[in-house]
Amino acid sequence: MFGLSYLDISGSLGLCATGLLCFNFILGILLSTGFKSQPFWKKLPEKIRLLPVERIHNWTAYLALFFAFLHPCILFIDKASGFEWKHIFVPLSAPKQPAIVLLGVISFFALIIVILSSQKIIKKKLGFRTWKNIHLISYLTALLFLIHGLFMDPLLKDRPTDFIDAEKLFSEFCILLLLVAAYYRFHYFQSKQTKLRKK
Ligand code: HEM
Repeated sequence: MFGLSYLDISGSLGLCATGLLCFNFILGILLSTGFKSQPFWKKLPEKIRLLPVERIHNWTAYLALFFAFLHPCILFIDKASGFEWKHIFVPLSAPKQPAIVLLGVISFFALIIVILSSQKIIKKKLGFRTWKNIHLISYLTALLFLIHGLFMDPLLKDRPTDFIDAEKLFSEFCILLLLVAAYYRFHYFQSKQTKLRKK
């Protein structure tokens, strides 16, 4: 299709899932740091401040899951790739880079768990603390799918990672963005703890 192979399409879907999950992660960090009362948020144009951040956070997760699901599905159509359905459940038997495939598979299932646990009825049954602890899996999920995306050879030829290839630069940019976001989250947590201790 348009000169694209199934492998190209699968790789692009993986990159879309990565981009969406990173955006989703940043929105999650905004939500957990009382963003509306932060000085930087108040300075943003009204159009941005009126965006339904919580709803966008939910929908980017659903869309990312959809892309993360299609990504291996398209790969399975390409018989020459040697990948089959069973590799989702036994990733270590994958024909190429099994350990790195395993990281992608773990992040895929972790994403499903986080999304399921956030459904209103389930969230209510779990209680805030358990739900929050499950939600924190997302930090590990992000780490796993980013390593997976960075080290998988898009041509499945066991080549070493080309760190200045456009697709890999995208994953590196996402890693940097998430490190800054996680640092901001940690800083917020620490200053909150200090304020509580002073009270
Ligand atoms: C959250 C889930 C996942 C994300 C975000 C993700 C992301 C990515 C990214 C960004 C790439 C590199 C594409 C490129 O450099 O052009 C990739 C490659 C790859 N991924 Fe995943 N992946 C996920 C889950 C999975 C799963 C469940 C499998 C199961 C078999 C898998 C198998 C592969 C394979 C074989 C490649 C190399 C071939 C290709 O580029 O399609 N991934 N993935």
